[in-house]
Amino acid sequence: MNLYNKTLLVTGVASGIGAEVARLARFQGARVIGVDRHEAQLSLDGFFQTDLGDPASIDALVERLPARVDALCNIAGVPGTAPLDAVAAVNYLGVRQLSTALLPRLAGGGSIVNVASVLGAQWPLRVEQHKALAGTESYAAGRAWLDANPVQHSDCYQYFKEALIVWSFQQSQAWFRDHGVRLNCVAPGPVFTPILGDFVSMLGPERVARDSQRMTRPALADEVAAVIAFFCSDAARWVNGVNLPVDGGLAATYV
Ligand SMILES: NC(=O)c1ccc[n+]([C@@H]2O[C@H](COP(=O)([O-])OP(=O)(O)OC[C@H]3O[C@@H](n4cnc5c(N)ncnc54)[C@H](O)[C@@H]3O)[C@@H](O)[C@H]2O)c1
Repeated sequence: MNLYNKTLLVTGVASGIGAEVARLARFQGARVIGVDRHEAQLSLDGFFQTDLGDPASIDALVERLPARVDALCNIAGVPGTAPLDAVAAVNYLGVRQLSTALLPRLAGGGSIVNVASVLGAQWPLRVEQHKALAGTESYAAGRAWLDANPVQHSDCYQYFKEALIVWSFQQSQAWFRDHGVRLNCVAPGPVFTPILGDFVSMLGPERVARDSQRMTRPALADEVAAVIAFFCSDAARWVNGVNLPVDGGLAATYV
């Protein structure tokens, strides 16, 4: 597996998993263009400071990107302790908008990797809602649907990770068939990054204690990055429409 000569667009590049994907991809010979709302302190082949929750900023970003991109890694995200609107915008609506806008530039062998979460594993319980939201065709239409079908703040992180998995499944067949673009998710369990503490506050001490007994430790960000890099590589050329847990076995313990 390698990424030699590929151009990757990596969101959330300034920290955590996104920064590790950028490092690994450059080591493997890729050109990495990073996107984040914060400045990135690492070597990149291009960087755009952008608010990925703002549709106008995403449009402006897309205009400045190269004509050809081989892979889009949608890694930027906020925890459920952020305002509900931000969770909806950054973790779901913005990912859809950027992916859809970039689709023509990825055509013919490209790959999109969306970072979901083990906390999105319960998508089957709300699948009809997620399919209805996935059926909205634009950022604005998605917002309007959410206004009419409000989501609770208490589990909005879970809701929008579930929605991201369902949207990815739904798009993956047509995008692969019609454009040759693969669309997959990875679902990390807890990862040692700056937002791990926010997840602990969000889930509460009981759930955190329960999960800690089900796994040996949280992941390191490079352990998740390696799987994202695999999805971007030609070694994964026949992998499409999957959501792969990268959680040290945590999700399996809930069966
Ligand atoms: N850390 C975990 O335990 C964990 C577990 C499961 C899933 N995830 C997911 O992994 C992804 C990466 O998270 P991380 O752990 O590396 O966290 P992180 O905070 O280290 O990195 C997230 C990055 O996203 C950027 N970002 C946030 N909002 C943005 C916006 N509006 N516009 C542009 N950039 C924005 C931040 O500036 C930051 O650099 C997220 O989608 C998160 O939900 C994390």
